[in-house]
Amino acid sequence: MSLKTEFLGFELENPWCLASAPPTATGKLMSDAFEVGWGAAIMKTVGPVEEPIINVAPRIHTYKKWNREIAMQNIELITDRKLSVWLEELKVLKKRYPKKMVIGSIMAPGHEMDAWARLIEEMNRVGCDAIELNLGCPHGMPERDMGAICSQDPEIVYNIVSTCKGASKVPILTKLTPNVTNIKVMAAAAKRGGTDAITVINTVNGIIGVDVYSRKPHLSVNGYTAVGGISGNAVKPIGLKCVAECKQATELPISATGGITTWSDGVEYLIMGASQLQLCTEVMIRGFKIISGLNQGIEKYMTEMGYTSIDEVKGTLYKNITSFDYLLKQSHSEKVRVNEETCTGCNICVVACRDAGYDALKLKGVPAHDRTKGTRNVADVIVDHCTGCNLCVAVCPVPECMSLYDSHEQFPYDLHTSYAQNTLT
Ligand SMILES: Cc1cc2nc3c(=O)[nH]c(=O)nc-3n(C[C@H](O)[C@H](O)[C@H](O)COP(=O)(O)O)c2cc1C
Repeated sequence: MSLKTEFLGFELENPWCLASAPPTATGKLMSDAFEVGWGAAIMKTVGPVEEPIINVAPRIHTYKKWNREIAMQNIELITDRKLSVWLEELKVLKKRYPKKMVIGSIMAPGHEMDAWARLIEEMNRVGCDAIELNLGCPHGMPERDMGAICSQDPEIVYNIVSTCKGASKVPILTKLTPNVTNIKVMAAAAKRGGTDAITVINTVNGIIGVDVYSRKPHLSVNGYTAVGGISGNAVKPIGLKCVAECKQATELPISATGGITTWSDGVEYLIMGASQLQLCTEVMIRGFKIISGLNQGIEKYMTEMGYTSIDEVKGTLYKNITSFDYLLKQSHSEKVRVNEETCTGCNICVVACRDAGYDALKLKGVPAHDRTKGTRNVADVIVDHCTGCNLCVAVCPVPECMSLYDSHEQFPYDLHTSYAQNTLT
């Protein structure tokens, strides 16, 4: 079995890649990551030389549930290191690690094509294997005509990508913001401009939270905050959607980034249609060495599934992301069934179905597991009331206790009278 995979003509030792971010803030950090097994890394974005980069403090905060980070907000800018320092380090990196994919990352104003072309030439000169165009940073940079503002207008996307592609000797990845109404339009513009791949997603606009006692934002600069970039596991659903839509719009290779914390998050992106997997937040929290767990996890999965190569893991699920009307034609008369053996009678599904649904569940008594103990409660389905919405399955704390089945009734069914006709008077 091999984790090797081809991406933009480069043979990667595994599909994992460090996203452009604090873990790639210096050449030394990128080197440390390569040493422990990362196959590819994208430098922290560099901007036009004349643009001074001054960060605010603090600029990072997390949102935790049960002591685990669900999401992160940052208001960090691109690299504050000099372009000349970076160019020297990239040269060293490429010489020392010829088999690792070293990816440059650049940003310039959306209306200054000369600045884009100059940065491309510099990256070409030091031998980067590919160059990512950062058109996605949502804070600080848009005010300077850079970052996310550049991938919110297809004409600007086209101009930047065609300029860079025309100037570059190596493949171009275009990194888009998810903060648009229709990302397909932006991906298509990048394709028209000649991009070789799309990277999605950069961070999602957001505010991580408010301290209810101090009444200040969690990420507070003297009581003020700015709309920042949300990353981490919570943004994975948005990332999966953007991968699907960009793939549908372009059929280009996709480098996926957004909320990957485990090997299985990565596999989800591969199945959706991605070719490469970028991580940032999880590495910021747990360090470079998570790469061994990522590799072991995917290897175990491949063994279980009988796959011998990453290409076999990759899928085309993006083709099944379709319209609501099409789904309606696929839908059946689903009803829920309860496994009375494993149901604990916890009542969670009953409350959910009553207060947010169709009142199709009640508790009933059945003989206790220990027959000497009388009865125990289990959930019971009022079949005529059930519309197969799946809420009870989604909230049930016992794995596989509740499941849907095709009742083979007419579809769509008539709503039960107490639901459809009981009007509030
Ligand atoms: C603190 C921080 C700084 C970042 N800086 C950059 C950057 O300089 N260039 C860039 O393209 N993306 C930057 N990103 C975005 C990441 O590369 C990545 O696209 C995003 O965080 C989603 O992936 P994740 O959920 O694995 O973190 C940054 C993210 C964070 C959290």
